[in-house]
Amino acid sequence: MKIHNFDVADFLQNIWQQKPLVIRQGFERVDWLEPDDLAGLACEDGVESRIILNKQGAWSVEHGPFSERRFSSLPEKDWTLLVQAVDQWVPEVSEILQCFDFLPSWRLDDIMVSYAPIGGTVSQHFDFYDVFLIQGEGSRRWQIGQVCDASSALLPDTPVKILQDFEVSMEVTLEPGDILYIPARFAHYGVSVEDSLTYSVGFRAPGIRDMVDGICTAALEGLPDDRRYQDTPDSLRASSGEIPASAVEQVRQMLLSALSQPALIQDWLGAFVTERKYPDAERVFSDGGDFIDRLPEEALLRAPGSRFAYMSGSNPLQARLFVDGEGYSCSLSLANYLAEAKVLEAGELLRFYQEPESRRCLEALLASGALVFEADLYD
Ligand code: SIN
Ligand code: CO
Repeated sequence: MKIHNFDVADFLQNIWQQKPLVIRQGFERVDWLEPDDLAGLACEDGVESRIILNKQGAWSVEHGPFSERRFSSLPEKDWTLLVQAVDQWVPEVSEILQCFDFLPSWRLDDIMVSYAPIGGTVSQHFDFYDVFLIQGEGSRRWQIGQVCDASSALLPDTPVKILQDFEVSMEVTLEPGDILYIPARFAHYGVSVEDSLTYSVGFRAPGIRDMVDGICTAALEGLPDDRRYQDTPDSLRASSGEIPASAVEQVRQMLLSALSQPALIQDWLGAFVTERKYPDAERVFSDGGDFIDRLPEEALLRAPGSRFAYMSGSNPLQARLFVDGEGYSCSLSLANYLAEAKVLEAGELLRFYQEPESRRCLEALLASGALVFEADLYD
């Protein structure tokens, strides 16, 4: 599967994170899900879902899991069901992700799917995420507005995040197979024209608040209590009640040296971007003991919801592999293979398994549930 009518090189250079783009008929077939499948998922424990309803101007948000009865009691129009991370639950939907391999996989958040009858909308808003909206069945009209930021005014007293102002700069009606790319922070407003499904492929970016929180917390673990401010001849020349600029500078330097350590930042970033979206979701564990016996016959998979990414090390043959928020040292070739191979091949895995370091890494990933035999997963 690939995106049609789409020039990757042009997109990366001129569009990505810069401006919206409509790709007509990017997908030939979009029959990945039926609305009933989506409603079924929203009834399950552990699946994050919402219904946003607009009743004569009054907004309400309900959170799943829902009962089947809730769906039969919904009005005919003006509501939207949104289900997060459908790629984790439906293999056909997770295959869509392969079409986006021109972007870093570690920036990917999830595929959210929404179903809305006529009039259904989540109103005018913006996200801090880049998103590709793939039109499934039915059609939806989208308006794109101004670029927003954290200070953009929102309507008060509504349970839905709705922008107070919306300056329409572009309008498009998406038909099945069409794609609309919306960069982060661009206001947007979609309304269902007829019963419709939309697949949102979202890309997240670490925020400065996460960085400060995570890196400071990680740094604290290794900091001794005896590293203290010290008076200098210059600071002692200030009058007794004055805090001199040189004291501020010394504190700044201490902070910089504590926080700007490349290894600390590398470990935090790798762990942060590979954290599972739902860390508490149930995992399936395959027994590592009979790995060698099972591998030639059975498919080994990256577990749905597990995230793999790596950084090359100062030794060009070594890497730091990050999986589900944990770091592993292994060869660059194993890290690259586990993070990027479309399908994990038995022959390749057995070859890696001969090397002690790779074996330890593969066994740890099996024990953590990040690698799993397909037969165990869909038991
Ligand atoms: C929707 O599917 O209607 C909402 C998607 C979005 O605004 O990001
Ligand atoms: Co949005």
